[in-house]
Amino acid sequence: MIRSWLFVPGDSEKKMTKGRGNPADALILDLEDSVSDDRQALARDLTATFLKQETDRKQQLWVRINPLDHAFSLEDLASVMPGAPDGIVLPKVNSAADLNLLASYLKILEVREGLAVGSTKILSVATETAASLLTFHTYLENVTDRLVALTWGGEDLSAALGASDNRHPVTGEYDDVFLYAKSMCLATARAIDAQPVGVVYVNFRDLAGLEAECLRDRRSGFIGKAAIHPDQTAIINDAFTPTDEEIEHAQNVIRVFEENPGLGTVGLNGKMLDMPHLKQARNVLDLVQKIMAKTQS
Ligand code: COA
Ligand code: MG
Repeated sequence: MIRSWLFVPGDSEKKMTKGRGNPADALILDLEDSVSDDRQALARDLTATFLKQETDRKQQLWVRINPLDHAFSLEDLASVMPGAPDGIVLPKVNSAADLNLLASYLKILEVREGLAVGSTKILSVATETAASLLTFHTYLENVTDRLVALTWGGEDLSAALGASDNRHPVTGEYDDVFLYAKSMCLATARAIDAQPVGVVYVNFRDLAGLEAECLRDRRSGFIGKAAIHPDQTAIINDAFTPTDEEIEHAQNVIRVFEENPGLGTVGLNGKMLDMPHLKQARNVLDLVQKIMAKTQS
């Protein structure tokens, strides 16, 4: 289970090395927005070399390529696949068709590189274009099973919608359309059993604000969050690891139901519990197990 995904500009050897020493569960080596056009070739080379060197994958290594409708995207893929990245982050996805196209490119390149077919996973940045807000249903119709996670984006979406800002000037809350994008990302991910990943918190010096947003994301149902700065990942890891009290509560909920077989609703500490609470308790223990499996491997 990946809690923290740290973006690292693919043209910076220094940041890539620094990322390796960071507690991030995954690095996203970026070839897209954090790299200027004149440094694309350099970024591709550095990222490909880095992937080949770093064969210990206790920390997963993902690559964000350029969008599929951009000329750079195929070159990005062809360059990095010899390094067997754990997954590809696809930005500016318009619909599931883009992910399926990426999946067929990956299959060809996996065969070329002698990698197991299907081994390269996909994270969709699912809400960066205007069209993407109208096509969430396509994920439920036919989408590659390489797709393991979805996240949303508020920055590129602002530009796509012609918005001058994405937050309310007084409250600082996201405006309606961005909350819609966030909600649909969550619902779509959950509907197809993929991991819903919280969006980056761009104000990287405000660690208290980051923690608050992580807790809010987690309450809504997101698991994990993307990061842009090394200081953000420990906070994200903590926020998305269930606390001892939460684990104990989940165990108690499951125990009460086990002690009352056949009952659809029971009481615990003066509160009514029914099936959604049982499901939630199982989710918590499932998450703990996945986190433990990861830290022990
Ligand atoms: N990954 C790895 N290392 C990073 C890093 C990152 N994302 N961001 C910063 N660092 C390193 C810096 O190089 C610096 O290293 P040093 O102490 O050895 O000099 C250290 O962490 C502290 O960095 P700091 O000075 O606080 O920040 P900065 O001004 O150097 O960088 C950003 C700020 C935003 C440019 C930088 O964090 C960054 O590049 N983030 C990723 C941006 C990105 O990928 N965006 C695309 C996704 S939205
Ligand atoms: Mg972007």
